[in-house]
Amino acid sequence: MRYCGDIGVLITGAAGFGGSTLTRELLAQGYRVTGLDIVPPGHAFLLRRELSNPNFRYLWKSVQDIQPGDVDGHSVVVHLAAQSDAPLAFDSPRYTVMQNIEGAVALLEAVRQAGWVSKLMFAASGNQIGRARYLPIDEDHPLTPHNPYGFSKAAAEMALGAWRLAYGIPSIVLGTGVVIGPNMRREVFIFKWLWDALHGNPIVVEGGSQTRDLAYIDDVVRGWILALQAPAEEVVGQKFFVGSGTEHSIDFLARACRDAIGNEVPIEYAGFRPGEEGHREAFSVEKARRVLGFTPEHSPGEAIALTAEWVRTLL
Ligand SMILES: NC(=O)c1ccc[n+]([C@@H]2O[C@H](COP(=O)([O-])OP(=O)(O)OC[C@H]3O[C@@H](n4cnc5c(N)ncnc54)[C@H](O)[C@@H]3O)[C@@H](O)[C@H]2O)c1
Repeated sequence: MRYCGDIGVLITGAAGFGGSTLTRELLAQGYRVTGLDIVPPGHAFLLRRELSNPNFRYLWKSVQDIQPGDVDGHSVVVHLAAQSDAPLAFDSPRYTVMQNIEGAVALLEAVRQAGWVSKLMFAASGNQIGRARYLPIDEDHPLTPHNPYGFSKAAAEMALGAWRLAYGIPSIVLGTGVVIGPNMRREVFIFKWLWDALHGNPIVVEGGSQTRDLAYIDDVVRGWILALQAPAEEVVGQKFFVGSGTEHSIDFLARACRDAIGNEVPIEYAGFRPGEEGHREAFSVEKARRVLGFTPEHSPGEAIALTAEWVRTLL
C-alpha cells in the first residue's frame, strides 16, 4: 500500500457509482478523501463503510454552492458530480444543463479562489463526442454532442478548457464510454437487461446496430488514479480516454447480458432513442497507454459477467 495521507483529494459526486468506487480505492491506498454530494449522509449507502473512516469526510452540499474553503486543504479535485442520466436529460434538458454546466463553473471558481490545487480532474462522457467523425475516437476529436446530456457535459469540458487558458486552472479530462460494474446506476441499459434476464423477462433493445465502448469500473478508476499520480507536467491540460478501446453493437451487448445470466429470454427490438441511429463509439486508449501506462484489463464480455455476478446478489 502506498501511503498518501498528505495528499487530500476532494471528490464531487462521491456518493455515486464512480465516486464511491474511487473513494474506496483512494482510502485503501492511504489518501485523505473528502466526498461532496447532494445525497444526504443517511442515504449515502454506497459509502456506508467509508463514512466512519477517519481519513474520510463527507460534505453534504451541492457543487453549485461549493466555496473556496471547501477546496482548501486538497491538492487534487476530481469532479464527478453530475446529472449523469442521458435518458432523463431528454425529458429534463434544462435541469441537466443547469446541473452540469453551473456545477462545473462553480467548482472552477472555487478552485480559482482557493488557489493551490495541483490537478482538477473531470470525467467526460462518450455522449460529448456524439456522432463520431472517425474511429477510434481520439483526444483530438471535436466535441459534437448529439443529445442534451452530451451537450451539458461538452459545455462543462469547454468551461474547464477556458478556465485553464484564462486562469491557469490545472484541469485534466478523462473520457469513457459506458462504465459498468457493481453499484452501477440501475437506469443504465446493461443493468436493466441483466435484471430483466434474471427475472425471465424479455430484454428490450432500443435500436441494436449502434455501438458502444463498454468499460469496467475497476479499469476506469485505475485510469483516474494513474492520472492523479502522474507528474503534473505530463497530464495537466491533457485529455485521455480510459475506456475499453473496443467497439460492440448494442445487440451484441444484449446477447452477452443474456449469456451472462444464462436465461434464454427473448430479445425484443424497439425504435432507436432520438439521435442514436448510426451512432458508433470506440475510444483509442493509445495516449493513456503511452503517457499514463494505462491498459484496460477487462473486455466488455468480462465486465458484463462480473456485473451479472453482482446483480445476482441483489435478489
Ligand atoms: N457511468 C458512466 O457510464 C459514465 C460514463 C462517462 C462519464 N461518466 C461521468 O462520470 C461521473 C460519475 O458518473 P456515475 O456513473 O458515478 O454517476 P452517478 O449518478 O452514480 O454519480 C453522480 C453523483 O453526483 C451527485 N450529484 C448530482 N448533482 C450534484 C450536485 N449538484 N452537487 C453534488 N453532487 C451532485 C449525485 O447525487 C451522484 O451521487 C459523471 O460526471 C458522469 O457524467 C459516467
